[in-house]
Amino acid sequence: MTDSKTIGVTEVVLRDAHQSLLATRFRYHDMEAALKDLDSVGFWSVESWGGAIFDSCIRYLGEDPWERIRKIKSMMPNTPQQMLLRGQNLLGYKHYSDDVVNKFVECSKKNGVDVFRVFDALNDPRNMHQALQAVIAVEGHAQGTISYTTSPVHTIDLWLDLAKNIQDMGAHSLAIKDMAGLLKPYVAFELVSRLKDELEIPIHMHCHATTGMSVATGVKAIEAGLDNIDTSISSMSMTYGHTPTETLISILDGTNRETGLNIEKLTPVAEHFQKVRRKYKNFEGSLRGVDARILASQVPGGMLTNLENQLKAQDSIERFDEVIHEIPKVREDLGFIPLVTPTSQIVGTQSVINILSGSRYSTVTNEVKSLLKGEYGATPAPVNKDLQQEGIGDGAVITCRPADLLSDDFQSVEEEFKKVVAEKNINAEPSIENVLIYAMFPEIGMNYIENVDNPEFFESEPLEIHELTDSSYLVTVDDHEYSVTLKADNSVTINDGSSINEVVSSPSVAAGTGTVIEAPLGGNIFRTIISEGESVDADTTVLILEAMKMETEIKAPSAGVIGKIFVKPGDTVKPGNPLFEIKS
Ligand code: CO
Repeated sequence: MTDSKTIGVTEVVLRDAHQSLLATRFRYHDMEAALKDLDSVGFWSVESWGGAIFDSCIRYLGEDPWERIRKIKSMMPNTPQQMLLRGQNLLGYKHYSDDVVNKFVECSKKNGVDVFRVFDALNDPRNMHQALQAVIAVEGHAQGTISYTTSPVHTIDLWLDLAKNIQDMGAHSLAIKDMAGLLKPYVAFELVSRLKDELEIPIHMHCHATTGMSVATGVKAIEAGLDNIDTSISSMSMTYGHTPTETLISILDGTNRETGLNIEKLTPVAEHFQKVRRKYKNFEGSLRGVDARILASQVPGGMLTNLENQLKAQDSIERFDEVIHEIPKVREDLGFIPLVTPTSQIVGTQSVINILSGSRYSTVTNEVKSLLKGEYGATPAPVNKDLQQEGIGDGAVITCRPADLLSDDFQSVEEEFKKVVAEKNINAEPSIENVLIYAMFPEIGMNYIENVDNPEFFESEPLEIHELTDSSYLVTVDDHEYSVTLKADNSVTINDGSSINEVVSSPSVAAGTGTVIEAPLGGNIFRTIISEGESVDADTTVLILEAMKMETEIKAPSAGVIGKIFVKPGDTVKPGNPLFEIKS
Protein backbone atom coordinates (compact mmCIF):
# COMPACT_ATOMS: atom_id res chain seq x y z
CA MET A 1 0.00 0.00 0.00
CA THR A 2 2.56 2.56 -1.07
CA ASP A 3 0.13 4.73 -3.00
CA SER A 4 -2.58 6.61 -1.15
CA LYS A 5 -6.28 6.61 -1.90
CA THR A 6 -9.71 7.06 -0.36
CA ILE A 7 -11.90 3.96 -0.01
CA GLY A 8 -15.51 4.57 -0.97
CA VAL A 9 -18.13 3.02 1.31
CA THR A 10 -21.62 1.76 0.44
CA GLU A 11 -23.95 1.56 3.47
CA VAL A 12 -26.43 -1.32 3.09
CA VAL A 13 -28.69 -0.91 6.15
CA LEU A 14 -31.71 0.18 4.10
CA ARG A 15 -31.68 -2.92 1.89
CA ASP A 16 -29.44 -5.92 2.46
CA ALA A 17 -28.96 -5.61 6.23
CA HIS A 18 -32.65 -6.07 7.00
CA GLN A 19 -33.10 -8.47 4.08
CA SER A 20 -30.45 -10.73 5.64
CA LEU A 21 -31.20 -10.14 9.33
CA LEU A 22 -34.97 -9.53 9.42
CA ALA A 23 -36.42 -11.21 6.32
CA THR A 24 -36.72 -7.83 4.51
CA ARG A 25 -39.37 -6.52 6.88
CA PHE A 26 -38.28 -2.94 7.66
CA ARG A 27 -41.08 -0.50 6.97
CA TYR A 28 -40.27 2.87 5.46
CA HIS A 29 -41.51 4.82 8.48
CA ASP A 30 -39.04 2.93 10.68
CA MET A 31 -36.15 4.17 8.51
CA GLU A 32 -37.22 7.72 7.93
CA ALA A 33 -35.82 9.26 11.14
CA ALA A 34 -32.30 8.08 10.24
CA LEU A 35 -32.22 9.22 6.61
CA LYS A 36 -31.01 12.79 7.15
CA ASP A 37 -28.18 11.58 9.38
CA LEU A 38 -27.23 8.89 6.86
CA ASP A 39 -27.23 11.52 4.12
CA SER A 40 -24.73 13.68 6.00
CA VAL A 41 -22.05 10.97 6.29
CA GLY A 42 -20.64 11.08 2.76
CA PHE A 43 -21.13 7.49 1.64
CA TRP A 44 -20.18 6.60 -1.93
CA SER A 45 -23.75 5.24 -2.10
CA VAL A 46 -26.50 3.88 0.14
CA GLU A 47 -28.10 0.63 -0.95
CA SER A 48 -31.79 1.19 -0.42
CA TRP A 49 -33.77 -0.69 -3.05
CA GLY A 50 -34.01 -3.83 -5.15
CA GLY A 51 -33.20 -7.34 -4.04
CA ALA A 52 -36.21 -8.59 -2.11
CA ILE A 53 -37.47 -5.10 -1.10
CA PHE A 54 -39.93 -4.82 -3.96
CA ASP A 55 -41.35 -8.28 -3.34
CA SER A 56 -41.59 -7.74 0.42
CA CYS A 57 -43.33 -4.37 0.01
CA ILE A 58 -46.12 -5.76 -2.13
CA ARG A 59 -46.36 -9.23 -0.58
CA TYR A 60 -46.17 -8.48 3.15
CA LEU A 61 -46.02 -4.80 3.96
CA GLY A 62 -48.67 -3.29 1.69
CA GLU A 63 -46.21 -0.53 0.88
CA ASP A 64 -45.71 1.01 -2.57
CA PRO A 65 -42.10 0.09 -3.49
CA TRP A 66 -41.87 2.97 -5.99
CA GLU A 67 -42.99 5.46 -3.39
CA ARG A 68 -40.39 4.10 -0.98
CA ILE A 69 -37.46 4.89 -3.29
CA ARG A 70 -38.93 8.30 -4.16
CA LYS A 71 -39.20 9.20 -0.47
CA ILE A 72 -35.71 7.93 0.38
CA LYS A 73 -34.27 9.82 -2.57
CA SER A 74 -35.97 13.06 -1.56
CA MET A 75 -34.79 12.69 2.07
CA MET A 76 -31.19 12.01 0.95
CA PRO A 77 -30.36 14.50 -1.80
CA ASN A 78 -26.58 14.21 -1.27
CA THR A 79 -26.16 10.45 -1.50
CA PRO A 80 -26.43 8.24 -4.60
CA GLN A 81 -29.10 5.57 -4.13
CA GLN A 82 -28.13 2.05 -5.11
CA MET A 83 -30.24 -0.94 -6.03
CA LEU A 84 -29.57 -4.62 -6.54
CA LEU A 85 -30.95 -5.84 -9.86
CA ARG A 86 -31.08 -9.47 -10.97
CA GLY A 87 -30.18 -8.80 -14.59
CA GLN A 88 -32.76 -10.22 -16.98
CA ASN A 89 -34.82 -11.42 -13.97
CA LEU A 90 -35.26 -7.81 -12.78
CA LEU A 91 -36.81 -8.24 -9.30
CA GLY A 92 -38.88 -11.28 -10.18
CA TYR A 93 -38.06 -14.92 -10.60
CA LYS A 94 -38.01 -15.45 -14.38
CA HIS A 95 -36.56 -13.81 -17.46
CA TYR A 96 -38.34 -10.80 -18.90
CA SER A 97 -38.17 -9.50 -22.44
CA ASP A 98 -35.64 -6.80 -23.30
CA ASP A 99 -38.23 -4.04 -23.58
CA VAL A 100 -39.56 -4.84 -20.08
CA VAL A 101 -35.96 -4.66 -18.80
CA ASN A 102 -35.50 -1.27 -20.50
CA LYS A 103 -38.77 0.09 -19.07
CA PHE A 104 -37.93 -1.12 -15.60
CA VAL A 105 -34.47 0.48 -15.57
CA GLU A 106 -35.79 3.73 -17.02
CA CYS A 107 -38.59 3.85 -14.46
CA SER A 108 -36.25 3.02 -11.55
CA LYS A 109 -33.87 5.79 -12.59
CA LYS A 110 -36.76 8.22 -12.84
CA ASN A 111 -37.98 7.28 -9.35
CA GLY A 112 -34.58 7.80 -7.73
CA VAL A 113 -32.12 4.95 -8.32
CA ASP A 114 -28.62 6.16 -9.30
CA VAL A 115 -26.42 3.06 -9.05
CA PHE A 116 -27.54 -0.29 -10.47
CA ARG A 117 -25.66 -3.36 -9.28
CA VAL A 118 -26.54 -5.93 -11.92
CA PHE A 119 -25.93 -9.62 -11.30
CA ASP A 120 -26.97 -12.96 -12.70
CA ALA A 121 -27.49 -15.98 -10.49
CA LEU A 122 -25.58 -18.24 -12.90
CA ASN A 123 -22.90 -15.62 -13.69
CA ASP A 124 -23.99 -15.88 -17.33
CA PRO A 125 -22.89 -12.49 -18.75
CA ARG A 126 -25.56 -12.70 -21.46
CA ASN A 127 -28.14 -12.29 -18.70
CA MET A 128 -26.54 -9.05 -17.42
CA HIS A 129 -26.01 -7.48 -20.83
CA GLN A 130 -29.38 -5.88 -21.50
CA ALA A 131 -29.77 -4.43 -17.99
CA LEU A 132 -26.27 -2.91 -18.15
CA GLN A 133 -27.01 -1.38 -21.56
CA ALA A 134 -30.31 0.01 -20.27
CA VAL A 135 -28.55 1.63 -17.28
CA ILE A 136 -25.90 3.15 -19.54
CA ALA A 137 -28.66 4.48 -21.81
CA VAL A 138 -30.35 6.38 -18.96
CA GLU A 139 -26.99 7.62 -17.63
CA GLY A 140 -27.10 5.64 -14.42
CA HIS A 141 -24.05 3.99 -12.89
CA ALA A 142 -23.87 0.49 -14.38
CA GLN A 143 -22.11 -1.99 -12.12
CA GLY A 144 -21.59 -5.59 -13.25
CA THR A 145 -21.20 -8.36 -10.72
CA ILE A 146 -19.26 -11.53 -9.99
CA SER A 147 -21.49 -13.66 -7.75
CA TYR A 148 -18.70 -15.37 -5.86
CA THR A 149 -18.90 -19.05 -5.13
CA THR A 150 -16.51 -21.97 -4.83
CA SER A 151 -16.52 -25.27 -6.73
CA PRO A 152 -14.08 -27.31 -8.80
CA VAL A 153 -14.88 -25.13 -11.85
CA HIS A 154 -14.70 -21.71 -10.13
CA THR A 155 -11.03 -20.76 -10.54
CA ILE A 156 -9.49 -17.28 -10.42
CA ASP A 157 -9.05 -17.45 -14.20
CA LEU A 158 -12.79 -18.01 -14.58
CA TRP A 159 -13.47 -14.87 -12.48
CA LEU A 160 -10.98 -12.84 -14.53
CA ASP A 161 -12.68 -13.85 -17.79
CA LEU A 162 -16.06 -12.91 -16.38
CA ALA A 163 -14.76 -9.57 -15.09
CA LYS A 164 -13.20 -8.68 -18.46
CA ASN A 165 -16.44 -9.62 -20.15
CA ILE A 166 -18.31 -7.26 -17.78
CA GLN A 167 -15.86 -4.42 -18.50
CA ASP A 168 -16.22 -5.04 -22.25
CA MET A 169 -20.00 -4.69 -21.90
CA GLY A 170 -19.40 -1.09 -20.79
CA ALA A 171 -19.91 -1.45 -17.04
CA HIS A 172 -18.66 1.53 -15.00
CA SER A 173 -17.49 -0.67 -12.13
CA LEU A 174 -17.29 -4.28 -11.01
CA ALA A 175 -18.69 -5.76 -7.78
CA ILE A 176 -17.48 -8.93 -6.13
CA LYS A 177 -20.60 -10.19 -4.40
CA ASP A 178 -19.85 -12.74 -1.70
CA MET A 179 -23.36 -13.51 -0.58
CA ALA A 180 -22.44 -16.55 1.52
CA GLY A 181 -19.27 -15.22 3.16
CA LEU A 182 -17.10 -17.77 1.35
CA LEU A 183 -14.38 -15.46 0.09
CA LYS A 184 -11.28 -16.12 2.19
CA PRO A 185 -8.99 -13.18 3.00
CA TYR A 186 -5.92 -14.46 1.15
CA VAL A 187 -7.98 -15.61 -1.83
CA ALA A 188 -9.52 -12.12 -1.92
CA PHE A 189 -6.02 -10.63 -1.92
CA GLU A 190 -5.06 -12.70 -4.95
CA LEU A 191 -8.38 -12.18 -6.74
CA VAL A 192 -8.37 -8.39 -6.28
CA SER A 193 -4.64 -8.13 -7.16
CA ARG A 194 -5.21 -9.97 -10.43
CA LEU A 195 -8.37 -7.97 -11.20
CA LYS A 196 -6.56 -4.67 -10.55
CA ASP A 197 -3.77 -5.75 -12.92
CA GLU A 198 -6.15 -6.53 -15.72
CA LEU A 199 -9.13 -4.18 -15.33
CA GLU A 200 -9.49 -0.45 -15.68
CA ILE A 201 -12.84 -0.03 -13.91
CA PRO A 202 -13.07 0.37 -10.09
CA ILE A 203 -13.76 -2.70 -7.99
CA HIS A 204 -16.37 -2.89 -5.21
CA MET A 205 -16.81 -5.70 -2.71
CA HIS A 206 -19.83 -7.02 -0.81
CA CYS A 207 -19.19 -9.76 1.77
CA HIS A 208 -21.55 -11.37 4.26
CA ALA A 209 -20.25 -11.94 7.79
CA THR A 210 -21.92 -15.33 8.30
CA THR A 211 -18.65 -17.29 8.38
CA GLY A 212 -16.78 -14.65 10.38
CA MET A 213 -14.34 -13.81 7.58
CA SER A 214 -15.81 -10.60 6.17
CA VAL A 215 -13.75 -8.06 8.12
CA ALA A 216 -10.44 -9.79 7.34
CA THR A 217 -11.47 -10.34 3.73
CA GLY A 218 -12.32 -6.65 3.33
CA VAL A 219 -8.99 -5.55 4.78
CA LYS A 220 -6.96 -7.92 2.58
CA ALA A 221 -8.92 -6.84 -0.50
CA ILE A 222 -8.25 -3.19 0.34
CA GLU A 223 -4.53 -3.97 0.72
CA ALA A 224 -4.69 -5.52 -2.76
CA GLY A 225 -6.16 -2.32 -4.24
CA LEU A 226 -9.93 -2.61 -3.79
CA ASP A 227 -11.63 0.74 -4.44
CA ASN A 228 -14.99 0.50 -2.65
CA ILE A 229 -16.54 -1.68 0.03
CA ASP A 230 -20.04 -2.42 1.36
CA THR A 231 -20.69 -2.26 5.13
CA SER A 232 -23.66 -1.92 7.45
CA ILE A 233 -24.25 0.26 10.50
CA SER A 234 -22.98 -1.55 13.65
CA SER A 235 -26.39 -2.17 15.23
CA MET A 236 -27.50 -3.97 12.05
CA SER A 237 -24.27 -5.84 11.25
CA MET A 238 -22.57 -9.25 11.45
CA THR A 239 -24.14 -12.75 11.70
CA TYR A 240 -26.23 -13.02 8.49
CA GLY A 241 -25.32 -9.42 7.60
CA HIS A 242 -22.14 -7.48 6.91
CA THR A 243 -19.00 -5.91 8.38
CA PRO A 244 -19.92 -2.97 10.64
CA THR A 245 -19.40 0.42 9.02
CA GLU A 246 -17.79 1.98 12.11
CA THR A 247 -15.38 -0.97 12.46
CA LEU A 248 -14.12 -0.62 8.92
CA ILE A 249 -13.73 3.15 9.23
CA SER A 250 -11.68 2.64 12.42
CA ILE A 251 -9.47 -0.08 10.94
CA LEU A 252 -8.50 2.18 8.04
CA ASP A 253 -8.12 5.31 10.17
CA GLY A 254 -4.58 6.69 10.01
CA THR A 255 -3.56 4.47 7.07
CA ASN A 256 -3.19 5.55 3.46
CA ARG A 257 -6.54 3.89 2.76
CA GLU A 258 -8.82 6.13 4.81
CA THR A 259 -12.54 6.31 4.09
CA GLY A 260 -12.74 10.02 4.92
CA LEU A 261 -15.92 9.29 6.89
CA ASN A 262 -16.62 10.67 10.37
CA ILE A 263 -17.54 7.92 12.78
CA GLU A 264 -19.28 10.34 15.18
CA LYS A 265 -21.92 11.09 12.58
CA LEU A 266 -22.91 7.42 12.69
CA THR A 267 -23.77 7.34 16.39
CA PRO A 268 -27.39 8.55 16.02
CA VAL A 269 -27.87 6.19 13.07
CA ALA A 270 -26.64 3.20 15.09
CA GLU A 271 -28.88 4.16 18.02
CA HIS A 272 -31.90 4.54 15.79
CA PHE A 273 -31.55 1.11 14.22
CA GLN A 274 -30.73 -0.55 17.53
CA LYS A 275 -34.08 0.67 18.87
CA VAL A 276 -36.11 -0.14 15.75
CA ARG A 277 -34.62 -3.60 15.38
CA ARG A 278 -36.28 -4.81 18.63
CA LYS A 279 -39.66 -4.42 17.04
CA TYR A 280 -38.79 -6.96 14.36
CA LYS A 281 -37.41 -9.62 16.68
CA ASN A 282 -39.81 -12.30 15.43
CA PHE A 283 -38.02 -12.15 12.09
CA GLU A 284 -34.54 -12.69 13.55
CA GLY A 285 -32.74 -15.94 12.66
CA SER A 286 -31.26 -18.09 15.41
CA LEU A 287 -27.61 -17.43 14.58
CA ARG A 288 -25.80 -15.55 17.35
CA GLY A 289 -22.15 -15.75 16.24
CA VAL A 290 -20.73 -17.56 13.26
CA ASP A 291 -22.10 -20.53 11.36
CA ALA A 292 -19.14 -22.59 10.18
CA ARG A 293 -21.43 -25.11 8.44
CA ILE A 294 -21.81 -22.53 5.69
CA LEU A 295 -18.23 -23.17 4.62
CA ALA A 296 -19.46 -26.57 3.46
CA SER A 297 -23.04 -25.81 2.46
CA GLN A 298 -22.50 -22.39 0.79
CA VAL A 299 -25.90 -21.21 1.94
CA PRO A 300 -26.08 -17.40 1.88
CA GLY A 301 -27.15 -15.51 5.01
CA GLY A 302 -30.51 -14.36 3.66
CA MET A 303 -31.30 -17.88 2.57
CA LEU A 304 -30.58 -19.33 6.02
CA THR A 305 -33.13 -17.08 7.74
CA ASN A 306 -35.66 -17.78 4.99
CA LEU A 307 -35.08 -21.54 5.23
CA GLU A 308 -35.63 -21.40 8.98
CA ASN A 309 -38.87 -19.46 8.55
CA GLN A 310 -40.02 -21.79 5.78
CA LEU A 311 -39.29 -24.91 7.81
CA LYS A 312 -41.12 -23.39 10.78
CA ALA A 313 -44.11 -22.78 8.49
CA GLN A 314 -43.88 -26.44 7.45
CA ASP A 315 -43.76 -27.50 11.14
CA SER A 316 -40.42 -29.14 10.36
CA ILE A 317 -37.74 -26.96 11.91
CA GLU A 318 -36.12 -30.05 13.44
CA ARG A 319 -35.07 -31.12 9.93
CA PHE A 320 -33.02 -27.95 9.32
CA ASP A 321 -29.64 -29.73 9.53
CA GLU A 322 -30.71 -32.41 7.06
CA VAL A 323 -31.81 -29.73 4.60
CA ILE A 324 -28.47 -27.93 4.98
CA HIS A 325 -26.69 -31.20 4.12
CA GLU A 326 -28.91 -31.81 1.11
CA ILE A 327 -28.19 -28.41 -0.45
CA PRO A 328 -24.61 -29.14 -1.73
CA LYS A 329 -25.85 -32.35 -3.39
CA VAL A 330 -28.69 -30.56 -5.21
CA ARG A 331 -26.32 -27.74 -6.16
CA GLU A 332 -23.83 -30.16 -7.71
CA ASP A 333 -26.63 -31.88 -9.66
CA LEU A 334 -27.57 -28.46 -11.04
CA GLY A 335 -24.07 -27.66 -12.34
CA PHE A 336 -22.49 -25.96 -9.29
CA ILE A 337 -24.67 -22.89 -9.63
CA PRO A 338 -23.97 -20.07 -7.17
CA LEU A 339 -26.61 -19.75 -4.45
CA VAL A 340 -28.18 -16.34 -4.79
CA THR A 341 -31.73 -15.24 -5.65
CA PRO A 342 -33.42 -16.96 -7.42
CA THR A 343 -31.11 -20.03 -7.52
CA SER A 344 -30.87 -20.08 -3.71
CA GLN A 345 -34.66 -20.46 -3.50
CA ILE A 346 -34.69 -23.05 -6.29
CA VAL A 347 -31.99 -25.18 -4.66
CA GLY A 348 -33.35 -24.52 -1.15
CA THR A 349 -36.91 -25.51 -1.98
CA GLN A 350 -35.86 -28.63 -3.88
CA SER A 351 -33.67 -29.61 -0.92
CA VAL A 352 -36.59 -29.10 1.49
CA ILE A 353 -38.83 -31.22 -0.75
CA ASN A 354 -36.16 -33.95 -1.05
CA ILE A 355 -35.88 -34.15 2.74
CA LEU A 356 -39.54 -33.72 3.74
CA SER A 357 -40.82 -36.15 1.11
CA GLY A 358 -38.21 -38.70 2.17
CA SER A 359 -37.17 -39.39 -1.41
CA ARG A 360 -34.74 -37.36 -3.53
CA TYR A 361 -36.34 -35.85 -6.69
CA SER A 362 -39.61 -37.82 -6.40
CA THR A 363 -41.14 -34.33 -6.81
CA VAL A 364 -39.17 -31.86 -8.92
CA THR A 365 -40.24 -28.20 -8.92
CA ASN A 366 -41.01 -26.47 -12.20
CA GLU A 367 -38.11 -24.10 -11.55
CA VAL A 368 -35.62 -26.99 -11.31
CA LYS A 369 -37.01 -28.31 -14.60
CA SER A 370 -36.52 -24.87 -16.20
CA LEU A 371 -32.97 -24.77 -14.93
CA LEU A 372 -32.26 -28.25 -16.33
CA LYS A 373 -33.69 -27.07 -19.63
CA GLY A 374 -31.33 -24.08 -19.81
CA GLU A 375 -34.08 -21.51 -19.35
CA TYR A 376 -32.01 -19.59 -16.78
CA GLY A 377 -28.85 -19.60 -18.92
CA ALA A 378 -25.65 -21.63 -18.96
CA THR A 379 -24.73 -23.39 -15.71
CA PRO A 380 -21.07 -23.17 -14.61
CA ALA A 381 -20.66 -26.96 -14.98
CA PRO A 382 -22.83 -29.56 -16.76
CA VAL A 383 -25.97 -30.64 -14.88
CA ASN A 384 -26.61 -34.23 -13.77
CA LYS A 385 -27.68 -35.94 -17.01
CA ASP A 386 -29.94 -38.51 -15.31
CA LEU A 387 -31.79 -35.79 -13.45
CA GLN A 388 -32.03 -33.77 -16.67
CA GLN A 389 -33.50 -36.77 -18.52
CA GLU A 390 -35.94 -37.40 -15.67
CA GLY A 391 -36.89 -33.74 -15.36
CA ILE A 392 -37.40 -32.72 -18.98
CA GLY A 393 -37.48 -36.04 -20.88
CA ASP A 394 -36.33 -35.67 -24.46
CA GLY A 395 -37.27 -31.99 -24.61
CA ALA A 396 -34.74 -29.70 -26.27
CA VAL A 397 -32.18 -27.94 -24.10
CA ILE A 398 -31.79 -24.20 -24.68
CA THR A 399 -28.28 -22.96 -25.42
CA CYS A 400 -28.98 -19.38 -26.60
CA ARG A 401 -29.47 -16.38 -24.30
CA PRO A 402 -32.85 -17.30 -22.77
CA ALA A 403 -34.35 -13.85 -23.35
CA ASP A 404 -33.70 -14.23 -27.11
CA LEU A 405 -36.70 -16.56 -27.10
CA LEU A 406 -38.95 -13.81 -25.70
CA SER A 407 -40.43 -11.17 -27.94
CA ASP A 408 -41.06 -7.62 -26.75
CA ASP A 409 -44.13 -7.62 -24.58
CA PHE A 410 -44.41 -4.55 -22.38
CA GLN A 411 -47.36 -3.43 -24.45
CA SER A 412 -49.16 -6.76 -24.16
CA VAL A 413 -48.61 -6.78 -20.37
CA GLU A 414 -50.03 -3.26 -20.28
CA GLU A 415 -53.13 -4.38 -22.24
CA GLU A 416 -53.54 -7.37 -19.95
CA PHE A 417 -53.20 -5.12 -16.89
CA LYS A 418 -55.98 -2.85 -18.18
CA LYS A 419 -58.17 -5.85 -18.90
CA VAL A 420 -57.69 -7.40 -15.46
CA VAL A 421 -58.34 -4.18 -13.52
CA ALA A 422 -61.45 -3.57 -15.63
CA GLU A 423 -62.73 -7.11 -15.02
CA LYS A 424 -62.06 -6.91 -11.30
CA ASN A 425 -63.33 -3.35 -11.13
CA ILE A 426 -60.11 -2.13 -9.48
CA ASN A 427 -59.42 1.57 -9.46
CA ALA A 428 -55.77 1.58 -10.64
CA GLU A 429 -54.00 3.67 -13.26
CA PRO A 430 -52.10 1.79 -15.97
CA SER A 431 -48.98 3.73 -14.97
CA ILE A 432 -45.62 2.25 -15.96
CA GLU A 433 -44.98 1.63 -12.26
CA ASN A 434 -48.19 -0.37 -11.83
CA VAL A 435 -47.72 -2.30 -15.08
CA LEU A 436 -44.19 -3.24 -13.95
CA ILE A 437 -45.53 -4.47 -10.59
CA TYR A 438 -47.96 -6.64 -12.53
CA ALA A 439 -45.32 -7.76 -15.08
CA MET A 440 -43.00 -9.06 -12.37
CA PHE A 441 -45.66 -10.34 -9.93
CA PRO A 442 -48.87 -11.19 -11.80
CA GLU A 443 -50.66 -12.72 -8.78
CA ILE A 444 -49.10 -11.04 -5.76
CA GLY A 445 -48.75 -7.75 -7.61
CA MET A 446 -52.42 -7.67 -8.61
CA ASN A 447 -53.43 -8.62 -5.05
CA TYR A 448 -51.36 -5.69 -3.82
CA ILE A 449 -52.89 -3.27 -6.32
CA GLU A 450 -56.37 -4.49 -5.45
CA ASN A 451 -55.81 -4.15 -1.68
CA VAL A 452 -53.57 -1.12 -1.53
CA ASP A 453 -56.11 0.76 0.62
CA ASN A 454 -56.86 -2.21 2.82
CA PRO A 455 -54.04 -2.64 5.39
CA GLU A 456 -55.79 -5.68 6.89
CA PHE A 457 -54.92 -7.66 3.77
CA PHE A 458 -51.20 -7.45 4.60
CA GLU A 459 -49.02 -8.56 7.48
CA SER A 460 -49.86 -6.56 10.58
CA GLU A 461 -47.16 -4.28 11.80
CA PRO A 462 -45.04 -5.80 14.58
CA LEU A 463 -45.87 -4.36 17.99
CA GLU A 464 -43.28 -2.84 20.26
CA ILE A 465 -43.10 -5.45 23.01
CA HIS A 466 -41.40 -4.81 26.32
CA GLU A 467 -41.16 -8.11 28.11
CA LEU A 468 -42.14 -8.05 31.81
CA THR A 469 -42.18 -11.68 32.93
CA ASP A 470 -42.29 -15.05 31.22
CA SER A 471 -45.94 -14.78 30.35
CA SER A 472 -46.90 -11.13 30.81
CA TYR A 473 -46.14 -8.48 28.25
CA LEU A 474 -46.60 -4.77 27.95
CA VAL A 475 -47.83 -4.13 24.41
CA THR A 476 -47.91 -0.70 22.80
CA VAL A 477 -50.63 -0.10 20.21
CA ASP A 478 -50.94 3.42 18.83
CA ASP A 479 -49.25 4.82 21.94
CA HIS A 480 -51.63 3.00 24.32
CA GLU A 481 -49.99 0.44 26.55
CA TYR A 482 -51.77 -2.80 27.43
CA SER A 483 -50.61 -5.48 29.78
CA VAL A 484 -51.39 -8.90 28.33
CA THR A 485 -50.90 -12.40 29.70
CA LEU A 486 -50.13 -15.34 27.46
CA LYS A 487 -51.47 -18.58 28.91
CA ALA A 488 -50.39 -22.14 28.29
CA ASP A 489 -53.51 -22.88 26.24
CA ASN A 490 -52.51 -20.11 23.80
CA SER A 491 -55.30 -17.81 24.95
CA VAL A 492 -54.38 -14.22 25.67
CA THR A 493 -55.84 -12.14 28.49
CA ILE A 494 -55.74 -8.38 28.25
CA ASN A 495 -55.65 -6.24 31.43
CA ASP A 496 -59.18 -4.91 30.88
CA GLY A 497 -60.48 -8.45 31.43
CA SER A 498 -61.29 -9.29 27.82
CA SER A 499 -59.58 -12.22 26.19
CA ILE A 500 -58.72 -13.53 22.77
CA ASN A 501 -58.72 -17.23 22.04
CA GLU A 502 -56.64 -18.49 19.20
CA VAL A 503 -58.91 -20.29 16.80
CA VAL A 504 -57.29 -22.91 14.66
CA SER A 505 -59.47 -24.29 11.92
CA SER A 506 -58.69 -27.03 9.48
CA PRO A 507 -60.63 -27.88 6.36
CA SER A 508 -63.23 -30.55 6.90
CA VAL A 509 -62.83 -33.72 4.95
CA ALA A 510 -65.94 -35.13 3.37
CA ALA A 511 -66.18 -38.86 3.77
CA GLY A 512 -65.39 -40.46 0.44
CA THR A 513 -64.31 -43.81 -0.84
CA GLY A 514 -61.06 -42.74 -2.42
CA THR A 515 -57.53 -42.03 -1.27
CA VAL A 516 -57.02 -38.50 0.03
CA ILE A 517 -53.87 -36.77 -1.22
CA GLU A 518 -52.43 -34.37 1.32
CA ALA A 519 -50.27 -31.29 0.91
CA PRO A 520 -46.59 -32.30 1.16
CA LEU A 521 -45.66 -28.70 1.98
CA GLY A 522 -47.46 -25.66 3.32
CA GLY A 523 -48.21 -22.95 0.76
CA ASN A 524 -50.88 -21.51 -1.52
CA ILE A 525 -52.89 -23.29 -4.16
CA PHE A 526 -51.72 -21.69 -7.38
CA ARG A 527 -53.87 -23.45 -9.94
CA THR A 528 -56.06 -26.54 -10.31
CA ILE A 529 -55.56 -28.37 -13.60
CA ILE A 530 -58.05 -31.25 -13.29
CA SER A 531 -61.69 -30.97 -12.22
CA GLU A 532 -63.76 -33.25 -10.03
CA GLY A 533 -64.97 -36.32 -11.90
CA GLU A 534 -62.19 -36.33 -14.49
CA SER A 535 -60.20 -39.51 -15.17
CA VAL A 536 -56.45 -39.28 -14.88
CA ASP A 537 -53.41 -41.46 -15.49
CA ALA A 538 -50.77 -42.01 -12.84
CA ASP A 539 -48.44 -38.98 -12.60
CA THR A 540 -50.96 -36.56 -14.12
CA THR A 541 -50.59 -33.14 -12.53
CA VAL A 542 -53.82 -32.39 -10.66
CA LEU A 543 -52.93 -29.04 -9.14
CA ILE A 544 -50.05 -26.68 -8.58
CA LEU A 545 -49.03 -25.63 -5.11
CA GLU A 546 -46.95 -22.52 -4.63
CA ALA A 547 -44.72 -23.25 -1.66
CA MET A 548 -41.76 -21.11 -0.64
CA LYS A 549 -42.26 -19.02 -3.81
CA MET A 550 -41.77 -22.11 -6.00
CA GLU A 551 -44.35 -24.00 -8.02
CA THR A 552 -44.73 -27.64 -7.07
CA GLU A 553 -46.90 -29.94 -9.17
CA ILE A 554 -49.08 -32.28 -7.15
CA LYS A 555 -49.67 -35.42 -9.17
CA ALA A 556 -52.10 -38.30 -9.09
CA PRO A 557 -50.27 -41.23 -7.43
CA SER A 558 -52.16 -43.76 -9.57
CA ALA A 559 -54.67 -43.86 -12.42
CA GLY A 560 -58.26 -43.20 -11.38
CA VAL A 561 -61.05 -40.68 -11.15
CA ILE A 562 -60.62 -37.44 -9.22
CA GLY A 563 -63.22 -37.28 -6.47
CA LYS A 564 -63.60 -34.27 -4.26
CA ILE A 565 -61.10 -31.42 -4.61
CA PHE A 566 -60.83 -29.81 -1.20
CA VAL A 567 -59.04 -26.63 -2.26
CA LYS A 568 -59.37 -23.82 -4.78
CA PRO A 569 -56.81 -21.37 -6.19
CA GLY A 570 -55.70 -18.88 -3.56
CA ASP A 571 -56.33 -21.20 -0.59
CA THR A 572 -53.60 -21.49 2.02
CA VAL A 573 -52.74 -25.03 3.10
CA LYS A 574 -50.58 -26.51 5.80
CA PRO A 575 -48.61 -29.75 5.42
CA GLY A 576 -51.04 -32.64 5.75
CA ASN A 577 -54.13 -30.68 4.72
CA PRO A 578 -56.25 -32.69 2.25
CA LEU A 579 -55.93 -31.55 -1.39
CA PHE A 580 -58.00 -33.98 -3.41
CA GLU A 581 -59.38 -37.46 -3.43
CA ILE A 582 -58.67 -40.09 -6.06
CA LYS A 583 -60.80 -43.18 -6.65
CA SER A 584 -59.49 -46.18 -8.55
CO1 CO B 1 -25.89 -9.38 0.24
